[in-house]
Amino acid sequence: MRKKIVAGNWKMNCNREEAFSLATEILGMVTDEVHQPVQVILAPPYLHLSAVAHLVSPNGISVAAQNCASEISGAFTGEVSAPMIKSVGAEYVIIGHSERRHIFNESNEELTKKVNLAIQSKLIPIFCIGEMLPEREAGHQQKVVEQQLRESVFHLSTDLFAGVIIAYEPVWAIGTGKTASPEQAQEMHEFIRSLLKKQYGEAISDGTSLLYGGSCNEKNAHELFALADVDGGLIGGAALKSRSFVNIIKSF
Ligand code: PGA
Repeated sequence: MRKKIVAGNWKMNCNREEAFSLATEILGMVTDEVHQPVQVILAPPYLHLSAVAHLVSPNGISVAAQNCASEISGAFTGEVSAPMIKSVGAEYVIIGHSERRHIFNESNEELTKKVNLAIQSKLIPIFCIGEMLPEREAGHQQKVVEQQLRESVFHLSTDLFAGVIIAYEPVWAIGTGKTASPEQAQEMHEFIRSLLKKQYGEAISDGTSLLYGGSCNEKNAHELFALADVDGGLIGGAALKSRSFVNIIKSF
C-alpha cells in the first residue's frame, strides 16, 4: 500500500516564535487526534528547519525544505544545498513548486539537477507539476505535466525513482481558492499514474504517493482524499492554521 501523506508548505511565513508555536500546536493535535497511518510533513522556511525538525521528528512528523540549490556547494551566495538540508534533520525537499518555476524562472533542466542532488543527499523529493490556466483552457494539461515529468524526473532509474513523491498542483488553483473538481483531480492523477506505469512498471506506479495541491482545505480535503489516485495533499494557506491543517490530516 502506498503511503498517505499530508505536507504543509509554509512558504515565506512565520518568524521564529510563530514557527515554534505552529509546529508545537500541530504536534500536540496530531499526537492526540490522529490515529490513522498518515505521514505528516512540515515544510517551514530554511531558517526554522533545524528547530522544527528537532521538535517534531522524535514524534514521527517529518520535515521538508521548500527548495534546494542546483549545485552542491561553493560560491552561490544565498543558496542552500541538499546536503546542508539533510544535515539539519530534514528528510524531504519540495522541488519544482510553481512559485519556483514561475517567479524564480526555474527550468525543467535546473530542476533535474535539484532532483539528482536531493536523491544523492538521501532526501526524498516532493516533485511538483501542474499546468497554468491557459494551458488547461487549451486542453494541454496532460501534455504539460508529461513534459515536466519527462524532462526532470524520468531520467531516474527505477531504483532511484522509487520513493519519489509527486504533487499535482494546477497553478490556477494555488492560493486562489479555486480547487480542481474531484473529476479534474482524479483524471489527472490517473493519467500521472499511467505515465509512471509506462516508465517504471506497475509496482512503482502502484507504490508512488501522488498528492493534490491547490486550495485544498478542511472542507474539500475529504472528497479529494477519497479519490482512487489521490494519496494526500500538499497544503499551502490552510497549513498555517494548526486546527485547519490537522482537520485536513484527519480527512482520510
Ligand atoms: P494553497 O497552496 O493550498 O495555498 O493553494 C498550495 C501550494 O502552493 O503548495
